[in-house]
Amino acid sequence: MDKFIIEGGRELNGVVEISGAKNAALPLLAATLLTTEPCTLRNVPDLRDIRTMTALLGELGAQVERSGTEVRCHTQNESLSEAPYDLVRQMRASFCVLGPLLARRGKARVSLPGGCVIGLRPIDLHIKGLRALGAEIKIEHGYILAETKGLRGADIYLGGAFGSTVTGTANVLMAAVLAEGITTIENAACEPEIADLAAFLNAMGAKISGAGTPTLVIEGVKSLGGCDYEVVPDRIEAGTFILAALMTRGDIAIKGARLGHLRAMVDKLAEIGAHVCEDDGLVRVRRGERLAATDATTLPYPGFPTDLQAQLMAALSLADGISVVTEKIYPDRFMHVAELNRMGAQIRKEGPTAIIMGQSELSGAQVMASDLRASAALVLAGLVAKGSTEILRVYHIDRGYDGIEKKLRALGAVIERVKE
Ligand code: EPZ
Repeated sequence: MDKFIIEGGRELNGVVEISGAKNAALPLLAATLLTTEPCTLRNVPDLRDIRTMTALLGELGAQVERSGTEVRCHTQNESLSEAPYDLVRQMRASFCVLGPLLARRGKARVSLPGGCVIGLRPIDLHIKGLRALGAEIKIEHGYILAETKGLRGADIYLGGAFGSTVTGTANVLMAAVLAEGITTIENAACEPEIADLAAFLNAMGAKISGAGTPTLVIEGVKSLGGCDYEVVPDRIEAGTFILAALMTRGDIAIKGARLGHLRAMVDKLAEIGAHVCEDDGLVRVRRGERLAATDATTLPYPGFPTDLQAQLMAALSLADGISVVTEKIYPDRFMHVAELNRMGAQIRKEGPTAIIMGQSELSGAQVMASDLRASAALVLAGLVAKGSTEILRVYHIDRGYDGIEKKLRALGAVIERVKE
């Protein structure tokens, strides 16, 4: 397993380009199962999770070719309809093939995704939505078995105890586009990645309105065609680099970031004394000598994203005063706290809330990556910590960041990947 070695304290300067969004590309790839015509996706990041999804599409009868950031998918054999445990357990988003398989092939056998370090990751809302469309669903031997003689439009409410569901909305949306009649999805996820999926499906011939709002209206169509589509930039990678610029006091110009997708974070950074501005398509961060403490609560989009919670916490450990971060999406998503504390942060956890004492002098240490975003927070901390930081099990980072060490090195960071 590879590790990163980071020598902290370097100021980062220069231009970094944001890759396509992992959490848009994954459902988009699943959506190519909805047609037997070829689809071309552009600006696809080169990530472990993308490779897992393209391997799954191959198992489901698609021919997949990659050239640079372009991925061409052509489903030719629709006789298969099983997503095996060994692929789904590696990446939960594989579960997104359930909706398309059901809609297009009338049946699917998909392994239950199981939990992960950030939480239980239930799928009850996915099942609720697909059953509402007329699917027969049962669970046995750790698999979802779904069948239908033909999906029919329905009025569906997809809100759960933690608000909307991103991949749940994706699964139900991808099933509804081929259902007979009209479907409405209330309390749909508003994330930009869902808007991207709706745009992609419409480019294939679907009839979806309300993308990006809590109410989606879908008029089912008989079939969908292929298309050529560019994946939206990754707002979480952009947010991670904005925080890297903030923490290292550097002058980083971030290319390809869409600030309109980061309003909650930009607003939060203004509260701590950092101003994020866009100039000629480049995003820059201006900050004062000191950073102020603040409070943050993660919420469904357009609220503060849970996928930037760990990275914000690394930044707040440097701020003056006491900050409070409350995690409303995954109340246990604090694997990074113990590791940041090993680097000198002073963070206490009280249930779904973390209290960050701030003004810490971070010092390099050997730390363990856990979930994707917690690992990104450790990289940020390593960039500013005194001395050397070793981050073990960086395969977690490779799942969601396209060549992060290369991008950081190009900005002046001293970071090496060591193969173990
Ligand atoms: C997506 O996961 C993202 N992954 C996650 O990013 C992200 O953290 C999450 O949305 C929240 O924004 C992808 O898009 C591939 P949810 P998803 O269903 O869809 C509860 C990353 O780091 N819930 O929106 O699995 C659930 O427990 C990853 O890139 C139910 O109760 O998340 C959670 O508390 C990590 N029942 C909340 O809803 C359900 O049926 C939001 O989950 C489904 C979800």
